Amino acid sequence: MIKNKNILITGGAGFIGSNLFEELIKFNNYLIVIDNFNDYYKGKEEQFNDLTKNYKKDEDYKLIQGNLVKDSTYDQIKDRIDIIFHLAAQPGVRYSIENAAEVSHNNITSTIKIFEYAMKNEVSKIIYASSSSVYGNPEYTPVDENHPKNPISPYAVSKLTGEIYADYYYREYSLPVITHRFYTVYGPRGRPDMAIRKFFDKMIHNEEILIYGDGEQIRDFTYISDILNGLILSAEKKKANGEVFNLGCSSPISVNKLVDKMYKIVGKSKKIKYVSKKKGDVEITHSDISKAKKILDYFPEINIDEGLKRTYNWQINNLR
Ligand SMILES: NC(=O)c1ccc[n+]([C@@H]2O[C@H](COP(=O)([O-])OP(=O)(O)OC[C@H]3O[C@@H](n4cnc5c(N)ncnc54)[C@H](O)[C@@H]3O)[C@@H](O)[C@H]2O)c1
Repeated sequence: MIKNKNILITGGAGFIGSNLFEELIKFNNYLIVIDNFNDYYKGKEEQFNDLTKNYKKDEDYKLIQGNLVKDSTYDQIKDRIDIIFHLAAQPGVRYSIENAAEVSHNNITSTIKIFEYAMKNEVSKIIYASSSSVYGNPEYTPVDENHPKNPISPYAVSKLTGEIYADYYYREYSLPVITHRFYTVYGPRGRPDMAIRKFFDKMIHNEEILIYGDGEQIRDFTYISDILNGLILSAEKKKANGEVFNLGCSSPISVNKLVDKMYKIVGKSKKIKYVSKKKGDVEITHSDISKAKKILDYFPEINIDEGLKRTYNWQINNLR
């Protein structure tokens, strides 16, 4: 576990960033969060206030409310930084199809700027959050890191461009950067635009859920604590510098099977409407995680049944 470090988390008010914050602050790390609390979904401020209520602002953590595409945001970082987790991005495959230029500008420019900041300030590790979406529709499964990259949305293109920059700064300037391709992450504080959170919400309120396509699309759902383990393990391993890892669960299931499991947990009768498939959605995600196992000792621990139970418990206790 990382202890007593100065750690910058970009996107620290978001789903994955806030969970990482919660984990790292327990170990006497001084956390600096940069987030612009964008309005892609509601409730980030409240959630962040709740998360930090037992900690002292400026003493235990620091919040810089700013946009990573602007230079003035970086001027506000006054502390020496040991590790950066770069999680800030405009997510959402479907959103990106309608807003390609905005998503590209946000995700690519902020990634270049944070890499440059890390270089100038000799940060000893920077971890970049990429996505399984860079592969597009797989040519074979499970998908290893060398699989061709055929992104089918502007979001995926922006994530892949960030990866190419990571590789460039690593090769040309020895930037100690590590890239992770996350697979559909779920758990407490999950994003309200993502299937599991949205479906539980509808089920709890006896409302109909919408499934895009026939529901036979396969997803490698990965529980948040496993993603955090992968992130933290990689920050501790020098031999991971310059590498790219799939962070998945490697036990994918169809959306129809997922929904069956969810209805069983909630104990309500099914109300499902099937609507046409959305552009940008891939047919299958299935990670080969052998590389992360070998180099990082990354072994996912939470299977889908356990992860869904935990997510449901959080959701009924926090969001009614
Ligand atoms: N959730 C997933 O399943 C998943 C899968 C693959 C990759 N990822 C990647 O993981 C990272 C975190 O995703 P998440 O699900 O927590 O998303 P999120 O939207 O909950 O969190 C992202 C945070 O970044 C902030 N942000 C965005 N642009 C910013 C900018 N220019 N300046 C400052 N702050 C900015 C947002 O306000 C938000 O709080 C993203 O990079 C995403 O692309 C997530």
